[in-house]
Amino acid sequence: MAGEILLVREVNKGFGGILALDRCSIAVDQGEIVGLIGPNGAGKSTLFDIISGFVQPDAGSIAFRGEEIVGLPAHRIARMGLVRTFQIPRALMRMTVLENMMLGAQGQTGERAIASIIRRHRVEDEESIIRKKAEEILKFFDLLPMKDQYGGSLSGGQKKMLEMARALMADPRLLLLDEPFAGVNPALADRLIQQIKILKEKGLTIMIIEHAIPYVIALCDELYVLNKGSVLAHGRPEEVIADRRVFEAYLGEADDAQS
Ligand SMILES: Nc1ncnc2c1ncn2[C@@H]1O[C@H](COP(=O)(O)OP(=O)(O)OP(=O)(O)O)[C@@H](O)[C@H]1O
Ligand SMILES: [Mg+2]
Repeated sequence: MAGEILLVREVNKGFGGILALDRCSIAVDQGEIVGLIGPNGAGKSTLFDIISGFVQPDAGSIAFRGEEIVGLPAHRIARMGLVRTFQIPRALMRMTVLENMMLGAQGQTGERAIASIIRRHRVEDEESIIRKKAEEILKFFDLLPMKDQYGGSLSGGQKKMLEMARALMADPRLLLLDEPFAGVNPALADRLIQQIKILKEKGLTIMIIEHAIPYVIALCDELYVLNKGSVLAHGRPEEVIADRRVFEAYLGEADDAQS
């Protein structure tokens, strides 16, 4: 259908006895910010793992820009423009912030050793282009002053920012953010909301897993609620939040925690 950048149909995934995803279906429209909420263990991160090709589903199909991507390796999917961040940031601690960024770039001749010998000048040009791009993105996330620091020296919030900044190096069309606000202080979170809105204005489609409802309301055009691996509700954020079943799913989580 026109307008859809991502279509997930009836995806199943079991881990041993646990059905992490149970006939999970979602659609993401081009240019929108789509939120994904749900109790702990609902299957949100697993869905991102599967969409981005890090984990294979047991069943179901996923179309990205009309093309089936189930079975493709994660790097191919990333190259098509579908890039994700991780719930736990994966910044390389003993590399500088800038080096972390350079690793996020993909598809350049600079990556390939033989090409780099044959076309030295071109590689040098490309490297300086990539470096410039890295610095621009770091500036956008207020991280430029830290570019020569080790990844490990950043605060939890800054590591989250670096994770997003690095994902942008790959020029995504669809960006999957797994809890981008977790561990980010409120001032930094407000800034991050503005930055995510700017990315949307630039045409990026974004999916966000987030527990903090105010951030979800501030950002999302559409909201999906996962519970026990299935879509419990979806629609406009205000409507979905007001849905009694959603409230009860979270209440169920609290009950489970007590028992
Ligand atoms: N690699 C794995 N091996 C075994 N079980 C897994 C694996 N990954 C996820 N699970 C299980 O699948 C279910 C869904 O987990 P998932 O991490 O997707 O939940 P989530 O919605 O992201 O939760 P949270 O909000 O806590 O991050 C959980 O029961 C989890 O224990
Ligand atoms: Mg998760």
